[in-house]
Formats: sequence, structure tokens, C-alpha cells
Amino acid sequence: MTMRTTPNNFHDAVNRQAGSSPKRSLAIYGISAIAALGGLLFGYDTGVISGAELFLQHDFALTSFTEELAVSAVLVGAIIGAAVGGKMSDALGRRMTLIIMGSVFAAGAILTAFAPTLWLFILFRIIVGLGIGVSSFVAPMYIAEIAPPRLRGGLVTFNQLAVTAGIAVSYWIDLAFANAGMGWRPMFGVAAIPGVALLIGMLFLSETPRWLASKNQWDKASTALNFLAPSEREQELRSIREALRNEQHASLSEFFRSGLTLALIAGIGLALFQQFIGINTVIYYAPTIFGYAGFRSASGAILATSVVGVVNFLTTLLAVFLLDRVGRRPLLLGGIVGMFITLIGMGVIFLIGPGNIGVLVLICLILYIVSFAIGMGPVFWLMSSEIFPTRLRAIGGSLSTIANWAGNLLISITFLSLIGTLGKPLTFWLYALLAVAAFVFCWFLIPETKGRNLEQVEGFWKNKRHW
Ligand code: BGC
Repeated sequence: MTMRTTPNNFHDAVNRQAGSSPKRSLAIYGISAIAALGGLLFGYDTGVISGAELFLQHDFALTSFTEELAVSAVLVGAIIGAAVGGKMSDALGRRMTLIIMGSVFAAGAILTAFAPTLWLFILFRIIVGLGIGVSSFVAPMYIAEIAPPRLRGGLVTFNQLAVTAGIAVSYWIDLAFANAGMGWRPMFGVAAIPGVALLIGMLFLSETPRWLASKNQWDKASTALNFLAPSEREQELRSIREALRNEQHASLSEFFRSGLTLALIAGIGLALFQQFIGINTVIYYAPTIFGYAGFRSASGAILATSVVGVVNFLTTLLAVFLLDRVGRRPLLLGGIVGMFITLIGMGVIFLIGPGNIGVLVLICLILYIVSFAIGMGPVFWLMSSEIFPTRLRAIGGSLSTIANWAGNLLISITFLSLIGTLGKPLTFWLYALLAVAAFVFCWFLIPETKGRNLEQVEGFWKNKRHW
């Protein structure tokens, strides 16, 4: 078992690991960047809907309900994708799975761009969703399995950074096409480019040592490790062998037998709360919210949204550096408090409205996104790879990912209807109430994993939550 690398010793570790070869460290960055195109596409293909919506509303004469369907279709696909991703990548390999997903992303993008009717649009978005769901699980897995041991933690957050980069890029591309008067079709079509890049890029990369070993191809695994982490090859081969032996008969029921139920509740709860505090009402519906706040033109609303996207990315970048300095808990809990305050603020602003509240809403949403991106955003994805015992990590991680997409669907498919029934202030206050629940949950259940290795985390759960 190895200690995970912390982002603040990331560069040191790359250089140490790479020994005297700066080329190797560059190669590891490069390989991770190609796999992280999966994260970029997750961000792009979810974020792109926000700017497209105002045009879709017009072209397909959307009602609140059909608009929610158009937004959420991708999430239905993502839930299915997250559920099959693990099995698929075990059977076909991580590399081959990502190659296939590259083609799914590319084909889905083109089909969506040409969708003649709303129902076909929805169908094609479900296909794109499959790609998102599978790669939200398999891309970080590929990165973790090719990263030299001490780099793993840092590289997991690298993927979350790619997700937020994808969202930000989608907003700016939406804005460019909105300004050019070209409407929603090219917004979706452009995603074919990173899809093809993922496909081609992965063709040049090798399979992960861990998967090769799991298929009894030890020679190939050893050759791959020779390149990735030559000085730790033997040690890595040993720990892969042990992990594979351990995982052989791992099953879900073990969570309930071995006193690890709370670990499972923590993982799934964090996944759900990450969504229940309403993040994707902003990520997917921001231009609609700006529309409520009096932004008259689609471009104005999308421009405001683009600012939110950049703030999301930059704050996530900051979080990557802070997570191992101040720890996960202060950022997580502090972030939830920030989200609570800004959600209350949103309700108040809409209660006082409908005067000229555009700037106030923009400021409030920026502070909300900062609070999310500093804590809940990166912490959930990091935690889903570090709070489960090694033996149950694959099952635990996969269940949390499915729960995250399911929570996302529930919130996204009900947002506009809630606004319609409860009104804007009460809807935002409902999310604020859920933020209170999230705070209490995290306060009592989420451990500080900074500086702990995986055995210590496992011991924490087995020892009735004592280190
Ligand atoms: C969440 C996504 C969200 C994104 C926003 C991720 O951590 O899982 O649902 O859209 O953050 O940056």
C-alpha cells in the first residue's frame, strides 16, 4: 500500500518519480491530459445546454416540462453509463472503453447538432449522456492506474479541473455562437472535436498495468510500468497482485458485514448532497435565471453565465492547491456555509425584485459558485476515491458515481417546476435548507483524510470513527 500524493507536493513528486528524466514527467502529464479529455467532455457536454436552452425554447416551443426533459436527457444516459462503466472497462479494458467513448461523444455531438425534432434531440442527448457517465468513472480510473503511486491524489483533482474547464469553454462557445446568431446546433456539434481527440489520443496510449495484470498479462503490465514508474516497478507489481487477490470476492454485502456501512453512507450521502445543494440549477439554467433577473438579450444572459464558468474553473484551481494545505473538511464545511448564505440571498433578491436585480443576482451566483468550487465540487470526487477501503473501492466509487448522477437528474428535472409551483424565493430557500442538512451530514460523517493513507482511513471506519 502506498501513500497518496498530495497536490502541493505534486511537482516534486513528478520530478522525484521521473528520476532524472524530465521527458517522463512530461509524458505522464500528457497521458493524463489525454484521458482527462473525458473530464473535459463531461464538463462541455453538460454545460453546453445552458446557453443552448434559450434557443431551444424558441425552436422547439418548449414548455417548462419539455425544457426540463431537454436539459435532463443527458443525465438519464449518464446514470446508465455510470452503472455500466465499471463492468465495461473490466471486460474491454480502460483504454478501449475510452476509445469507444470518444466515438460515442463524437457521433452524439454530430447527431444532436442535426436533430430535426425535440424527441430525437432528447434521444441523441441520452447517447451523449452514456459517454459522460462512462467516462466520469473510467477517465479518473485510467489516470489513477497509470499514475505513479505518489501522484494519484493530485491527478484525481486534475480530472475535476478538466470538468470545470469543459464547462467554462462550453459557456464561451455558446456565447460566440449566440453572438454570431448561429443558434444552438453548432454549440453541440463542436463537442465532436474533443471527442475525436479523445479517440485518437487513446489509440496512442497503452492499457493500464493494473488491467493488464487483471487479465493475467503480467509481462505487458511490467513493460508498461517500466515506462511509467521504473524505480517502483517491483513494488507496484506486488501491490497490484495483492489488490487483485483482495478484490476477487469483494461484494456489496461486505459493506454491511464489516462495520463499513457508515463509509458507504458517507460516500453516497456526499454524492447526493453535492447535487441537492442545487449546483446544477446554476450550471445548466444560469441564463434562464439571469433571464428572470431582467437580462433582456440571450447574449447578455450567456455572457453573465460565461463569467460564472470562469470563476468556477479558477476557484477549482485554487482548491487543488488548498485541499492538502488546509484539509478537506474546512473547505467542505466553509463552502457549504457560503452556499447556504448565497442561496438565502438569491431568495431575498427575488423576493424584493422584480426591479433591476441583474447585477445582484450575478454577484450572488458568483459567490455561490466560489463556495461550491472551493469545497463540495472537488471534495466529493476526491473523497469517492479515498474514503472506501481498498477492497471495496471499486464498488463504493461506482455506487457513489451513480448516486451523484441520479441526484443530479432529480434536481435538474424538477427545478423549473419548483419555480412554477413554489415561486423563486421559496425554491432557493429549499436548496438552502438542504445545505443545512448537508452541513450537519458532513460535520458528523465526513472524516479529514488529509495526510492519511488508505489503511488509516479503513481503520477509522472499523474503529467506530476514531483514528
Ligand atoms: C459536479 C457536477 C457539476 C460540476 C460543476 C462537479 O463536481 O459533479 O454535477 O456540474 O461539478 O463544476
